[in-house]
Amino acid sequence: MSFSLHSWSFGFVFVTLTALAIIGKPCSAAYRPSPWALAHATFYGDGTASETMGGACGYGNLFSNGYGTDTAALSTTLFNNGFACGTCYQIKCVQSKWCYPTVKFTTVTATNLCPPNWSKDSNNGGWCNPPRVHFDMSKPAFMKIAQWKAGIVPVMYRRVPCATRGGLRFKFQGNGYWLLVYVMNVGGGGDIAKMWVKGSKTGWISMSHNWGASYQAFATLRGQSLSFKITSYTTKETIICWNVAPANWNLGLTYSTNVNFH
Ligand SMILES: *[C@@H]1O[C@H](CO)[C@@H](O)[C@H](O)[C@H]1NC(C)=O
Repeated sequence: MSFSLHSWSFGFVFVTLTALAIIGKPCSAAYRPSPWALAHATFYGDGTASETMGGACGYGNLFSNGYGTDTAALSTTLFNNGFACGTCYQIKCVQSKWCYPTVKFTTVTATNLCPPNWSKDSNNGGWCNPPRVHFDMSKPAFMKIAQWKAGIVPVMYRRVPCATRGGLRFKFQGNGYWLLVYVMNVGGGGDIAKMWVKGSKTGWISMSHNWGASYQAFATLRGQSLSFKITSYTTKETIICWNVAPANWNLGLTYSTNVNFH
């Protein structure tokens, strides 16, 4: 919404990155796909994907926040206590008569948790019970790889870099003493291990993981422009987003940058 990164600081970052590239330090932190592995997939909700909104990652409305309907809820084993929020997967249907044989795969972003249900057997309805590796896809995403009548299909999946457009986005919530930030549109590995906030009058303040893709600082930061430092969970790369929010930032707003992981 508000983009106020000073052009000089962006230019500095850009020149620094370019210089690193020139002296032969490759961008080795770029995320690479994992090997293909076996899992299963079901779907939840209907063709409108309205049930996928407001999931356990905290992205809220997936349409207005850019995630669309190509999303999945992960079983606990994959969800990693929310650290897998934002990760991206190619999923292909295999070994079922319901598969669309000409479709190589579809790509989804993890936006939700598929919780266990211990009153169901893990092999009969309790598909998301640990230690099962399971994708509960949005119905539109599932219908790209298999007929919905299948209910459940075996799949091959692999994690891939998230092909995001544009930079990281930060959605602010909390109150005057508590800043809760949801990080969205994360490229590369798509996941976040650690995050810091810096007010224009403070040093870097460590933020703790709250839930899903949200991080919190117990600090009074009103009236200060805010910068964020973020470390990728998978690649360990750290990037800094300077002056993401202007001094008159507000809770409830989402602030965009043009900095991202790759
Ligand atoms: C778990 O499974 C039982 C048995 O089918 C069902 O009645 C219940 O609603 C399920 N719980 C949840 C949270 O989905």
